[in-house]
Amino acid sequence: MIAPIKRTLADLRAQTAIWRKADETIGVVPTMGALHQGHLSLARAARERCDRVIVTIFVNPKQFNNPDDLDSYPRTEEDDARKLESIGVDLIYVPDPEQIYPDGFATNVSVEGLTDMLCGAARPGHFDGVATVVSKLFLQTSADFAFFGEKDYQQLQVVRRLAADLDIPIEVVGCPTIREEDGLAMSSRNLLLSDRSRIKAPVLAEVMEDMRAQLRDGDGMSDIAEDAKTRILAAGFNDIDYLELRDGRDLSLLDQTVPDARLFAAAWLAGVRLIDNIAV
Ligand code: PAF
Repeated sequence: MIAPIKRTLADLRAQTAIWRKADETIGVVPTMGALHQGHLSLARAARERCDRVIVTIFVNPKQFNNPDDLDSYPRTEEDDARKLESIGVDLIYVPDPEQIYPDGFATNVSVEGLTDMLCGAARPGHFDGVATVVSKLFLQTSADFAFFGEKDYQQLQVVRRLAADLDIPIEVVGCPTIREEDGLAMSSRNLLLSDRSRIKAPVLAEVMEDMRAQLRDGDGMSDIAEDAKTRILAAGFNDIDYLELRDGRDLSLLDQTVPDARLFAAAWLAGVRLIDNIAV
């Protein structure tokens, strides 16, 4: 059965109040729709861990720093609801925009430090938009657990920080990146790739895998980054926003690998920005 869709905060809270009264735990999976296997794996993780599962679908204008990117973001609500059917999600929250940003909305949640680099540097204002909407979704759903993919690793760290800093009583659970058979990290943006670009896209993950092997052998980023960038560009990518080794805990920049090191990349392929990261 397709889960009921609620579009107002009042309707959402009418339902969560009943669950709370019955002492049931609530898990939330925040999404912007265009659901793929990565999202479904988050919903499954929530289903296993929580009595009740809410998936939210909201294309958040505040986190897009480019209006064309916002306009072209895929919107597939009916399909999304159908995809969630087999998982047994209890409720889909698709808030009308004024439920998130009512007239006069003037609050911005900004996480310092973690947002200065990587996607934060390349997309000014992006993480303020994410932090603001995620804070609202946490408070609106009153969930006990929230599930986020490691594919957006920086976002995961930002969300953990804001939940801790604002004393929001929610446990943020990170779940592994789900990949296509050819290694491409699943992303709603993959839908925007042409057939030709789709063939080239896995090169990003391939190069990162090779870099991981080199880093494990003791090479530093200063030895290998230039060659890796040349390979990515030679495969048809147009530009690279970053290709960096960072500490997975505080995202500080590294040259050599350490126990929590992760490799992060963002690159443009025919107008589509792809990101990926792997533990080294
Ligand atoms: O990862 C996403 O899809 C979005 O950034 C999120 C967490 C749903 C906030 O809009």
